[in-house]
Amino acid sequence: MQNQHVLIIGGSSGIGFAAARQMINLGYKVTIAARTAAKLEAAKCALNNGADTIILNATDADAIRDAYNALGAFDHLVLALGSSKGAGAFATVSLEEVRQGFEEKVFTHFLCAQTALPFLTPCGSITFISAVTAHAAMPGTAGIGAANAAVAALVPILAAELRPLRVNGVSPGVIDTPWWDFLSTEQKTQVFADFKSKTPVDRIGRSDDVAQAISFLISNTYMNGHIIICDGGIRLTT
Ligand SMILES: NC(=O)c1ccc[n+]([C@@H]2O[C@H](COP(=O)([O-])OP(=O)(O)OC[C@H]3O[C@@H](n4cnc5c(N)ncnc54)[C@H](OP(=O)(O)O)[C@@H]3O)[C@@H](O)[C@H]2O)c1
Repeated sequence: MQNQHVLIIGGSSGIGFAAARQMINLGYKVTIAARTAAKLEAAKCALNNGADTIILNATDADAIRDAYNALGAFDHLVLALGSSKGAGAFATVSLEEVRQGFEEKVFTHFLCAQTALPFLTPCGSITFISAVTAHAAMPGTAGIGAANAAVAALVPILAAELRPLRVNGVSPGVIDTPWWDFLSTEQKTQVFADFKSKTPVDRIGRSDDVAQAISFLISNTYMNGHIIICDGGIRLTT
């Protein structure tokens, strides 16, 4: 894999960072992109300088195009950025929050994938990160679940449309990453205990669990149009 280049947008933290580490270990060239320079530098340091970095806000179409132009051709795109907006009971969640969730997750994924097409090598791949909320019936996730379902819906359509480029997705369950930092420490402890009790494997997920699914989808060149639900089975019990 020495010559294959993976760009991970959202690669400075959580699932994207774990995927970067695994892809480097598998011998891929890796570039990580995100908005915050300091987080990118810390990630690069934690990866023993094994990845290049790009500062990029994926809501900015010009910035995405500039980043791809600076990078040139590459083989695999992983979209590991997201949004925590749009969660809450259907009766009370605000349309503004749901709209922000779509802006930050669905439209960023759409735009990053679409703009990448002239730069992706034909034998390469795109991996979208959706979420278990797209596939389960979890009360309180109508808004965020709809956004993740929109991302998941892209996978089979693009796998058929962009041939021979492969297009896959991973839908994580509850994974212990900074994504949950909108909660206080006490809230997080309580929420994780509740999710753990509902999860058949009896634990919260780790970034590396999801990164393994991403690595598999990138490296197995016969995988196309699949979404791996990597959730410890929580979709079955909530
Ligand atoms: N953690 C979970 O339980 C869970 C469950 C299901 C699905 N997911 C999904 O998994 C994906 C990764 O989440 P995570 O848990 O790894 O979260 P995370 O640790 O918060 O990582 C998010 C990454 O995306 C970057 N990012 C965010 N907005 C960006 C933007 N507009 N442009 C460029 N980079 C951006 C962040 O860096 P900057 O902030 O510096 O930009 C960071 O590198 C998300 O799509 C999330 O919805 C997570």
